[in-house]
Amino acid sequence: MPLAFMNLSGKTVLITGAAKRIGREIALVLASRGASIAIHCRKSLSQARALEREIKKSGAGAFVIQEDFEPGTGRSLEKKIRKFTAKLYRRAGRVDALVNNAAIFYPTPFGKIREKDWDAFMNINLKAPFFLAREIGLRMKKAGQGKIINLVDWTGFKPYRDYLPYCISKAGLIAATTGLAKALAPEVQVAAVAPGPILPAKGMSRKQEKKVAAKTLLGRFGHPRDIAATVRFLIEDTDFITGAFIPVEGGALVV
Ligand SMILES: NC(=O)c1ccc[n+]([C@@H]2O[C@H](COP(=O)([O-])OP(=O)(O)OC[C@H]3O[C@@H](n4cnc5c(N)ncnc54)[C@H](OP(=O)(O)O)[C@@H]3O)[C@@H](O)[C@H]2O)c1
Repeated sequence: MPLAFMNLSGKTVLITGAAKRIGREIALVLASRGASIAIHCRKSLSQARALEREIKKSGAGAFVIQEDFEPGTGRSLEKKIRKFTAKLYRRAGRVDALVNNAAIFYPTPFGKIREKDWDAFMNINLKAPFFLAREIGLRMKKAGQGKIINLVDWTGFKPYRDYLPYCISKAGLIAATTGLAKALAPEVQVAAVAPGPILPAKGMSRKQEKKVAAKTLLGRFGHPRDIAATVRFLIEDTDFITGAFIPVEGGALVV
């Protein structure tokens, strides 16, 4: 079979939670390869618009698409994702790659986990990316080509005690990556990137940062570029990785 790797030039990529931090870096790296970026955001509309302007100035395409991946009381998240996908395709016409990056992260001490926290983690970090991958993945399959990259976390394999709903949601997304790869093969490849500490969470003290860095083999945080480069590699440089994950965690899994 001839090699026909995906060339990002002229392709459309949806990146969820792309206005800031790691998502923003992924957007800039993929746009620098000529991709048109669908910048999804929830609250960070002004940052998303600033990123859109920056990408357009560089000569690539971009547009902002806003959605909250919480279903809302008594509402169906699956239905919301179907409507969001229809809106996305009306705007973009096609989607060649999906990067499921949006997520929430905050501590939930074991004895104090509330059901509403559990539901929020599962909805935003697992259910939304899963149904996005199904809706967009089936369209990609029909089109004959596509890439889906899920941002997971090394703690999906070695959960932090005080972050169980978060870690369990990411463990679910790791399992979903394998399952989606099976469901969407051979046209669509699905992979996960498992970051270690890259950017400190809001409110993290210097002391906590040092503790987190010490859990890696390299003793430090990584850079958003480490993640963006891995996402780009999975989209552009190989069509033979699917159902797999790449740890980008400074060796945290082998400590
Ligand atoms: N930071 C790290 O060191 C690290 C480590 C391991 C894994 N990861 C994973 O890598 C990815 C990126 O990390 P990050 O730290 O850059 O993420 P982040 O800043 O915590 O979140 C990314 C975006 O998710 C969006 N989001 C949150 N709740 C949402 C909702 N209800 N509906 C729709 N979007 C929502 C937010 O968009 P708005 O701002 O527009 O509201 C936010 O900007 C995440 O999946 C994370 O779990 C990160």
